[in-house]
Amino acid sequence: MNEEIIREILELKKRRNAVILAHNYQPPEIQDIADILGDSLELAIRAKEAREDVIVFCGVLFMAETAKILNPSKTVLLPEKDAGCPLADFLTPEMIREARREHPGAAVVLYVNSTAASKAEADITCTSANAVDVVRSLEAETVLFGPDSNLADYVQSKIPEKQIIPLPRGGHCYVHQQFTCDDVIEAAERGDVTICHPECPREVRNGSDLVASTGGMVRMAESARTWTLLTERDMAYRLRTLYPDRIFHVKEGAVCRDMKKITLDSVLRSLRTDTYEIELPDEIMERAKVPIERMLALR
Ligand code: 13P
Ligand code: SF4
Repeated sequence: MNEEIIREILELKKRRNAVILAHNYQPPEIQDIADILGDSLELAIRAKEAREDVIVFCGVLFMAETAKILNPSKTVLLPEKDAGCPLADFLTPEMIREARREHPGAAVVLYVNSTAASKAEADITCTSANAVDVVRSLEAETVLFGPDSNLADYVQSKIPEKQIIPLPRGGHCYVHQQFTCDDVIEAAERGDVTICHPECPREVRNGSDLVASTGGMVRMAESARTWTLLTERDMAYRLRTLYPDRIFHVKEGAVCRDMKKITLDSVLRSLRTDTYEIELPDEIMERAKVPIERMLALR
């Protein structure tokens, strides 16, 4: 059954001159059919450079929106309309405008896990791979950083000379927020090297051996034999495929429900019926493009 769907996806992809981009947290069967797998930054860069007519984005809404903003002449499809990121919904444009009024002179740095309308209010965006470099590049001494307060805290720990104000206080990803010191202790008892995503709480970051974006995890995974990944569960599938001789432990309950909404059926439907095409108001696209392009120019 799956073979038939996969064959149709591959045929249609060729006929429509489409590329399938997929995030490292996608379910295994989607990882297997992707042309490119990566973290948010790698996928944004690939989307901007895409020459294909159609980009099928297997990930969540903010990622597909970023692809559209960077490459507006392409058809960008998100196979499931309601694959969102609850973290993005912590922040609204009005909250950013209000924080700017309260902190005149502060720079606004938005994690790409934010809505397009919020990005339109930002000075620059960042991902977990470049957040520290982005904030370091700014002249401003005070930085309003949202919507992930754990990532804000991580950046603050690396750049103590600036004041990083989380926007809002308490914005978090429910998948990473669930990790605790017990997870770190268990991993240490197994003798694993621990690597956590910077969206994890401070005590988990402090207890871990390494902190990295999902792309960073891909780059580092060769350097030890047994790992505990303090991040989304299907990161392990990605790494086991790349490094079959390494061992990766994960927490079974660490599942991003929105990432799992994408299925082979929905990818096929997406290519057949152009669902769901990302459409954003021109004004938002133009304004949101500025902070995203600023981030990409720092490479
Ligand atoms: P990465 O940019 O590290 O892939 O992270 C994206 C994300 O949504 C983490 O939860
Ligand atoms: Fe959003 Fe968390 Fe899912 Fe990443 S893992 S897409 S931050 S909800």
